[in-house]
Amino acid sequence: MLSISVKDFLFWKKKQLSKGGSNQSFNVLLDCIGGISNSDLNLMIINPEKNLYLKKNLDYLESKWEEHLFNSSPIQYLCGITFWRDLKLKVTDKVLIPRPETELIVDIVFKIFRKKSKKIFFTELGTGSGAISIALALAFPLWNGIATDIDEDALEIAAKNYINSSKQSNLKFRCGHWWTPLENFKGKLDLAISNPPYIPKDTYEKLPREVKNFEPKIALIGGEDGLKHIREIINKAPLFLKEKGWLILENHFDQGEKVRQLLIKKKFTSVEIVKDLSGIGRFTIGRYK
Ligand SMILES: C[S@@+](CC[C@H](N)C(=O)[O-])C[C@H]1O[C@@H](n2cnc3c(N)ncnc32)[C@H](O)[C@@H]1O
Repeated sequence: MLSISVKDFLFWKKKQLSKGGSNQSFNVLLDCIGGISNSDLNLMIINPEKNLYLKKNLDYLESKWEEHLFNSSPIQYLCGITFWRDLKLKVTDKVLIPRPETELIVDIVFKIFRKKSKKIFFTELGTGSGAISIALALAFPLWNGIATDIDEDALEIAAKNYINSSKQSNLKFRCGHWWTPLENFKGKLDLAISNPPYIPKDTYEKLPREVKNFEPKIALIGGEDGLKHIREIINKAPLFLKEKGWLILENHFDQGEKVRQLLIKKKFTSVEIVKDLSGIGRFTIGRYK
């Protein structure tokens, strides 16, 4: 433990932030690596002469901050942690950092399934860090879910995140290509959710460095037009969903109408494009007949 006066620490913090980056990212670094949360710091500011204690020394914290600023390393990978809804999740470069806009998927589910007592069987295809499935399993302890991913390493992280966030046992993890791990559950699912890779190949090349150089390619690219995986998920969904079962998909900002048409072609009803908080048609939902 390193001890330093609050006054000196605040001076050092100001110097680090003058190099660039956001206050929010710096606070994540301080919390996850330094062991001092922003709320702790705010309480200490009234006693600037007092000392605070850090888990790592200032040189180490500075080196991590500079790695973030100058190599564009995502702060979440450097810290090994991200905050999503009310979850604290472990992340490595094997999983996509779950995005704030994806948090809305959970709210869409809340809106559709109001009755918490009803037992539901759900799946999430391409779970990554497990964020969506874990949030649902915790919110609905009576539900049962299977979270899948093609990547074993991602599933291992998702399973760890579930164990760390819960004492429940209503979520299982299975490895495989989209619906393949669910062969035994044909016609049994009330709900399927996916935030699949949907970035068109050309767009991927132009993504910011912090995404392209660090986040897993397999989590991002959706073929030439971005819809390769979405098409496959929609085409096979009728085999696995119960009658009136729901499919909820996240898509790229301009894909909503195309996804809507794909769902209608497969005889989905109640098809709707749901906007995110920026007014972008980020999700497309429908019921199988
Ligand atoms: C955009 S990420 C979403 C991760 C997480 N659900 C989230 O919202 O943050 C897509 C996920 O799909 C997985 N994936 C890619 N191709 C797949 C496939 N063919 N079958 C199953 N999962 C796949 C990736 O490994 C990745 O974890």
